[in-house]
Amino acid sequence: EMIDGERVFRLNAQAGATELVPGVSSATMGFNGAHLGPTLRAAHGEKVRIHVTNELTVPTTAHWHGMVLPASQDGTAHQSISPTATWTAAWQIEQPAATLWYHPHPHGQTELQVSRGMAGLFLIDDEAPPGLPAEYGVDDVPLIIQDVTVQSGGQRPGTPTTTPIGRIGNTVIVNGTYEPHFVASTSLVRLRILNASAARCYNLELSTRDVFHLVGTDGGLLPAPVPLSQLLLSPAERAEVVITVPPDADLVLRSVPHDLGMSRGDNVTSGAEDTFGILRITRANDVTTSELPARLPAAAHPTRAAAVDRHFMLGDTTINGKSMDMVRIDTVIAAGSTETWLIENTSRRAHNFHIHGTQFIVNTENGESPAPRNRGWKDTIFIAPGSTAELTVPFSAYADPTTPYMYHCHMLWHEDQGMMAQYVLT
Ligand code: C2O
Ligand code: CU
Ligand code: CU
Repeated sequence: EMIDGERVFRLNAQAGATELVPGVSSATMGFNGAHLGPTLRAAHGEKVRIHVTNELTVPTTAHWHGMVLPASQDGTAHQSISPTATWTAAWQIEQPAATLWYHPHPHGQTELQVSRGMAGLFLIDDEAPPGLPAEYGVDDVPLIIQDVTVQSGGQRPGTPTTTPIGRIGNTVIVNGTYEPHFVASTSLVRLRILNASAARCYNLELSTRDVFHLVGTDGGLLPAPVPLSQLLLSPAERAEVVITVPPDADLVLRSVPHDLGMSRGDNVTSGAEDTFGILRITRANDVTTSELPARLPAAAHPTRAAAVDRHFMLGDTTINGKSMDMVRIDTVIAAGSTETWLIENTSRRAHNFHIHGTQFIVNTENGESPAPRNRGWKDTIFIAPGSTAELTVPFSAYADPTTPYMYHCHMLWHEDQGMMAQYVLT
């Protein structure tokens, strides 16, 4: 709804019960319903205003993950919403088209609220390049992947729920649906995939082993489609992929075993050896065929600085040996500056690293050119034990010396344990 030149949204945080698996009811939470939340959409350049009402019995927040915006609008624990209260966020969308998302960020309670289903997509639109599928729900399809623990009737009973990376579920649901099936009415299907799990990583491939094309990462489109046969997504990461659906197709997008870089035992308990079907895809008889464009309108990369400005070491549940403190500012950064950050996982646990209020470019992983999946704009990057990632991080001009943004591991149990720190722009 447009009011006075602003696109206005209303979100109500709610709790309830949902049949995540047929016949089994689970306690769930969501926005504007008992599970998940509506897809929000706004265009580059638009002003948005979002009213968030808390109908839960506990405090919550609404964080716009991946958004470049003032810290006071970011929806962290500093913008906590008490039960029955309404908080309003407003800003202007200044970043290019991307698949972002929103979720709560109450300190210490994020894993519980997100894994119960408080998550939704926030799509930023810009002029679509011809040939790239862009019809929402038809050939441009969101996939919110979450693992949940269902007491009976789940896919993998007996899965341990607590692991070195946090809470792992025994069943995978997509857009809240158990064993989903999509009938394609076009030869090309663009999937906007969000790993909204608390801890579980997915290594996606097609059951046909055919290649698919990565066209976008967390922060927007790539300069050209990148052919891949597998794609690892850690919690909070997004990927836009285009799949070619052949006539008579009956294929499955699935998650297959991968290496999280931990000990064999820790990899196994953390779900790295699991196989799950994510989405069955078949094709309708009559389809529209098209061809993927060779070039995409990607935002230009910033220039890489010569020296590292800051070095962050990831421990088991700490950053540079410290635990999150809501009143401590860990890092002060000049608004509008671009910095080089070196992130090093010095622990034996798999982690990832997310920075609020910006999108960054990965210069190197372990000193070498980054994996193809990390060559576009990112806000979250997986970092295996013993690995490093060097990032070029352009910070916005939104100076506010008193309201911090966060950077943290997005494995939500680690985050809740305090694997998070704060920066301000001055
Ligand atoms: Cu997805 Cu601190 O956030
Ligand atoms: Cu975030
Ligand atoms: Cu972690």
